[in-house]
Amino acid sequence: MGKVYIFDHPLIQHKLSILRDEKTSSKEFRELVSEIAMLMCFEATRDLPVEEVEVQTPVAVARCKRLAGKKLAVVPILRAGLGMVDGMVNLIPAAKVAHIGLYRDPKTHEPVKYYYKMPADIAEREVIVVDPMLATGGSASAAITFLKQDGVKHIRIMSIIGAPEGVARLQKDHPDIDIYVAALDDHLNESCYIVPGLGDAGDRIFGTK
Ligand code: PRP
Ligand code: URA
Repeated sequence: MGKVYIFDHPLIQHKLSILRDEKTSSKEFRELVSEIAMLMCFEATRDLPVEEVEVQTPVAVARCKRLAGKKLAVVPILRAGLGMVDGMVNLIPAAKVAHIGLYRDPKTHEPVKYYYKMPADIAEREVIVVDPMLATGGSASAAITFLKQDGVKHIRIMSIIGAPEGVARLQKDHPDIDIYVAALDDHLNESCYIVPGLGDAGDRIFGTK
């Protein structure tokens, strides 16, 4: 079974408390999503393999470590996942960014796919799927299914807030996937919004409400 990591770092929790606040503006919300993504990325990549290299400094040869092995791809689920991309690529500038467009049908809450664009070598990459909200888990589960159909073997997902229902759904559909969240909230309401959550992440990032 994949692991669930909940990041209780004080900086992440402080920023998340401002993110949740209904009075936080779209500008600040966008900045916070990006900053939290960067801090989470730092933690979520601590198991990436490294190799020893020798580097000539102006003084002497230093034995150093560099990232080894697979290349990375960051895969935002549109729209709200886009808000996490800058923070991720700030830390991993060599990562490719591939997009999956999904929206939840307002009545059924089932994900509807409208866009899918991967680099040709996606199957060889270590993939980090990003989406601020893991609610029913339908969108994340569908995104991971598409990636597996494309031959991707190593996938992890990073969400800022998860609901227990979404975590359970992912663990059932994709027991091989590790899940990284900054908070695991209480439950979903009748509209499948996370409680207490932060509202509609896409609308708050892009100011569409
Ligand atoms: C939100 C969110 C996730 C999804 C989570 O997207 O960004 O993608 O809902 O819900 P789920 O776990 O129940 O699938 P939304 O459908 O609102 O689209 P948007 O990002 O374009 O606003
Ligand atoms: N999507 C959101 O943006 N927020 C939720 O609480 C659930 C799904």
